[in-house]
Amino acid sequence: HVTVTVEPSLQVAPYACQRRTPLDHPNPALVMALETLAEAALFAGEEARGLAFTRAASVLRCLPRALQGTHELSGLPCIGGHSHRVLQEVLEDGVCAEVEAVKQSERYQTMKLFTQIFGVGVRTADCWYREGLRSLGDLQSHGTRLTRQQQAGVECFEDLAVPVGRAEAEGLACLVLDAAARLLPSASVTLAGGFRRGKPHGHDVDLLLSHPEEGREVGLLGPLVAWLEEQGLLLYQHSQHSSYTTTAEPSSSCGPLDRFERCFTILRLVLPATGTGVRAWRAVRLDLVVVPHSQLPFALLGWTGSRHFERELRRFARHEREMVLNSHGLYNMRQGTFLPASSEEEIFQHLGLDYIPPTLRNA
Ligand code: CTP
Ligand code: MN
Ligand code: MN
Ligand code: MN
Repeated sequence: HVTVTVEPSLQVAPYACQRRTPLDHPNPALVMALETLAEAALFAGEEARGLAFTRAASVLRCLPRALQGTHELSGLPCIGGHSHRVLQEVLEDGVCAEVEAVKQSERYQTMKLFTQIFGVGVRTADCWYREGLRSLGDLQSHGTRLTRQQQAGVECFEDLAVPVGRAEAEGLACLVLDAAARLLPSASVTLAGGFRRGKPHGHDVDLLLSHPEEGREVGLLGPLVAWLEEQGLLLYQHSQHSSYTTTAEPSSSCGPLDRFERCFTILRLVLPATGTGVRAWRAVRLDLVVVPHSQLPFALLGWTGSRHFERELRRFARHEREMVLNSHGLYNMRQGTFLPASSEEEIFQHLGLDYIPPTLRNA
């Protein structure tokens, strides 16, 4: 008797929000190749092409085992001809020439450097690149005009390039919770973003502030930020007032930005004591978002990510359910009504989706 082992065929649902995507997965080289091309396309201002590569990469992220060969791609969604060629090359040669060329290119490396600066997007980075700027030193020597936010981003560049660890993020959440609870008893602080998805590191710390009684959260952020300032912990901040109104047309198409009151900061993270002469702090990015209790499940869902998972949830809601989902609520367009929810699970139920826990939203 001969035993033939046949791997079960790979089945993948078309929307990332229908799939369970863990942080660690068996196809890192293939995913990295596609995500590099996605990033390069965004750097070129080609958003549709970037999204196509991101979708293909996300499909590979959820596979339960290593891809055996390109013959297995035929049943998978979202793998276009270009992605197919890239994957074939990486499977056969270990690397893809196009990806390696992109990574070596001055354009890609410079855009990566500039867009890593806090407050610099693709458009600004592209302007600087076309002016011939190539380094942080060039910004200074050319007297490039920077916004206050970009100025802070350049000053803290090296610190902010160091990933924030989970323990550091949880420490900051505790610090903020203590301060918030002194100002407003029963205030809550929730660590969202990549850390909620189980990432051991992040580029920033995302905290949602709320209070179990709707409305009590109003007026918390100002004094909280003032307290951080008084402690000498605040290196930079800019705040936005809440611009949420239930009379506004619900929208999921205006990008990830929502209308909560918020504060984007750079904080002085106090480090454990070390030998003499060693600086006792490091700059880290902290986002504070104030959320009314009734919107907390939606804000939590919206701020947990990944960015691609969020984009797919909203696309699914609109195209498959005629609903509009954002970080404030879920709106049924056929009935003209908002669908309330007291948990993330309920939102998935409203959408007719299996619940995907945060650690499996790494799409
Ligand atoms: N988000 C948002 N509005 C913003 C910024 C972020 O809704 N103005 C959401 C994003 O959609 C994302 C989540 O908040 O789902 C976290 O964003 P971000 O901190 O940029 O990404 P992380 O996944 O946390 O990655 P990292 O660990 O690198 O911080
Ligand atoms: Mn192509
Ligand atoms: Mn984050
Ligand atoms: Mn953030």
